[in-house]
Amino acid sequence: MERLTVKTAPIEGQKPGTSGLRKKTEVFMGQHYLENFVQAIWEGIGGARGKTLVLGGDGRYFNERAAQVILRMAAASGVAKVIVGQNALLSTPAASHLIRTRGTDGGIIMSASHNPGGPDEDFGIKFNTPNGGPAPEEVTTRIYEATKTIEAYEILETQDLDLNRLGETHLADMEVEVVDPVADYALLMENLFDFDAIRKLFDGGFTMRFDAMHAVTGPYAKAIFEDILGAPAGTVMNGEPKADFGGGHPDPNPHWAKALFNTLMDEGGPDFGAASDGDGDRNMILGRGTYVSPSDSLAVLAANAHVAPAYSGGLKGVARSMPTSGALDRVAKKMGLDCYETPTGWKFFGNLLDAGRATICGEESFGTSSDHVREKDGLWAVLLWLNILAKTGRSVREIMQDHWAEFGRIFYTRHDYEAVESDVASDLMDGLRARFDDLPGQSFAGRTVIGADEFAYDDPVDGSHAAGQGIRILFEDGGRIVFRLSGTGTAGATIRVYIEDATDDPARFGEDPQEALAPMIAAADEVAGLHARTGRTGPDVRS
Ligand code: G6P
Ligand code: ZN
Repeated sequence: MERLTVKTAPIEGQKPGTSGLRKKTEVFMGQHYLENFVQAIWEGIGGARGKTLVLGGDGRYFNERAAQVILRMAAASGVAKVIVGQNALLSTPAASHLIRTRGTDGGIIMSASHNPGGPDEDFGIKFNTPNGGPAPEEVTTRIYEATKTIEAYEILETQDLDLNRLGETHLADMEVEVVDPVADYALLMENLFDFDAIRKLFDGGFTMRFDAMHAVTGPYAKAIFEDILGAPAGTVMNGEPKADFGGGHPDPNPHWAKALFNTLMDEGGPDFGAASDGDGDRNMILGRGTYVSPSDSLAVLAANAHVAPAYSGGLKGVARSMPTSGALDRVAKKMGLDCYETPTGWKFFGNLLDAGRATICGEESFGTSSDHVREKDGLWAVLLWLNILAKTGRSVREIMQDHWAEFGRIFYTRHDYEAVESDVASDLMDGLRARFDDLPGQSFAGRTVIGADEFAYDDPVDGSHAAGQGIRILFEDGGRIVFRLSGTGTAGATIRVYIEDATDDPARFGEDPQEALAPMIAAADEVAGLHARTGRTGPDVRS
């Protein structure tokens, strides 16, 4: 076993984005690419020597190879111990939990989340800090700086470890513990929720389909829903993790989880449907004939969490990302809770959770979670919904109707224009920025603007400032359009248009959001020249 110092040189573009470094797999597999970035992580966290780290990923193509490289680099740089999921698998929330319960110095998660996997698709790496959450900007900046000056990296030359065999082993002086990726996480869920109530629900004939999308949650969902909670075999669909996610796009939304969506929209379908993404942190919630938008799901969870044992004492506060609808704010107001508005990206919730200012957080991008981990958590959201259904005896549709009757309804949709030329996208944003002072008072598709600005955030805990976090255009009567460029894409620019409009008129609660929002959708096109500038006639994805 030889310890090598390999000469290398900086590789351009290793700047972590919204959620770590994401690139085409072939880029990651290029010479020194992965190694440079991992060495930069060691630099960015003040050296690897003596540290204990968690390692796992979502099982996509290159997952296990990358894990072997990271382990050899960790051993060569003096890491004391790595806790790695069996076959290098760990869902993102399970990794967050392991980092926390084992009191480690952080962990490396290999995932490109909901992006497709395979030799021609995407791969990614991110570092999570000892609180279990994604590294804050201060750390990712240090990592990026290190990628710009790197001259060499350390690695062991040795055989691959058998990551299928559970238990302790060694790589040179470094201890390696291969753990069951599901066990600790399932126990955590059991402690948070009323599993007896959910078991009774399934015993009573309640039917559910969970679409694991051939991604990492398959084994977790089978263990929790079918083995522990007694749901019939077949409740979990697409439960075998595959390196290419079965050729699919593991993003749980009506577009990419269409088969599940259609099954639930059928009046003869199951009572409840849910899906999760590549690495298990996102979720989509469906009831028979009912699609629950992520913003509504967040509001419902906040309003009803007290039925679950872990939240029976009430919530400390709640938080949502700026583009997420104001449905949560209405709940918070009525319940007397603080409600924080953060930039897009789960990392911005970390300080609020650590400081005990918020218990439940969520984003329109199909992410919800609580202070039990420091990542969003797809299965957690599904289990909290099940706990609420079990305790209230209501259907998903009834829960939504009750919720709107109490808090009013905010219609919501997100329209994505993908792979737009970067220049076109930034011109569109600049064009809007230049008109912040002129827009108020102008009307678009019959709706009058009352304010326009660009969102910036001052973290109430550490005082850090984040500017340029999305353009907001506010309309009279509670309408809002947000324009934002995605921070997670790997090709060109994705323009996200977030559209919402509120109503307190019960006669309108049942309307289809795309129809109810038609005037606001038209206003979005008019105000930004969306179609004219992009040459498109509509979005690629509506959710
Ligand atoms: C990842 C992050 C989320 C964030 C989302 C936004 O999933 O974990 O916290 O909301 O990216 O992605 P975008 O493509 O809109 O920048
Ligand atoms: Zn994800």
